[in-house]
Amino acid sequence: MKLSVFMPPADLVPGDVAGRVVAVIDVLRASTTIATALTNGARSVIPIETADIAISMARTFEHSEVTLAGERKMLPIPGFDLGNSPLSFTEAAIGGRTVLLTTTNGTRALMSLHGTRDVVLGAYVNHAVVSAVLRAAARAEIDISIVCAGDEGHFSLEDAACAGRFVRSVSQRMKSIVLNDAACACEIIDRKYGDNIAKIFRDSTHGQALAEAGFHDDLVACAALDSKPVVLDFHDRQITRIGLDRER
Ligand code: MLT
Repeated sequence: MKLSVFMPPADLVPGDVAGRVVAVIDVLRASTTIATALTNGARSVIPIETADIAISMARTFEHSEVTLAGERKMLPIPGFDLGNSPLSFTEAAIGGRTVLLTTTNGTRALMSLHGTRDVVLGAYVNHAVVSAVLRAAARAEIDISIVCAGDEGHFSLEDAACAGRFVRSVSQRMKSIVLNDAACACEIIDRKYGDNIAKIFRDSTHGQALAEAGFHDDLVACAALDSKPVVLDFHDRQITRIGLDRER
């Protein structure tokens, strides 16, 4: 079976993901934020391309049932309830609600996928549980693609390192896995940093930008390995925890 990494999502062709189990990674910060929202009781998270579409969709819900969230250039969108800081997705803020989320890279990466078998979202905060899902696919001989959201169409170090950690945990003790070049490169990056996730963020362009914008605490939250052990399943345009119903 094949285990491939792709970045950025704009370069994907349909055959890269069709029929495959796909893990989408946006470590800083969309995947981490969504894991936090669904850990803290959000009903579901709906990724949306633009702020205008999110605002229109919010009007189809009762006000008490929906939260508008998202960022542009890392900052909350004016008029929205929340930005994209995982720390703001507390139970008090989003418990029982549907979150409409629009972000620069993460939500677009999800929207770029077509014809997949299953899609999960991965980050450091849910690494072990997502690795278990991917290992189960590998044992069943189902091809796997890891799609890194990247940074505005460019390579991002933190997504590559996290992808490499998935590659390492899926491919160890499995001889029949064929890696693409990006998967090999990501594994090398992961091995260079090991568990020093804070150092990955210090070396990465987006990590540095978040630190300069004052989001130090977000970086700590995004580096907290396996602190949000939830499998996030993207299906019918919404993200839920596996095992929970997908109704609005
Ligand atoms: C994104 O999806 O582009 C990000 O999560 C950006 C951010 O808020 O740090």
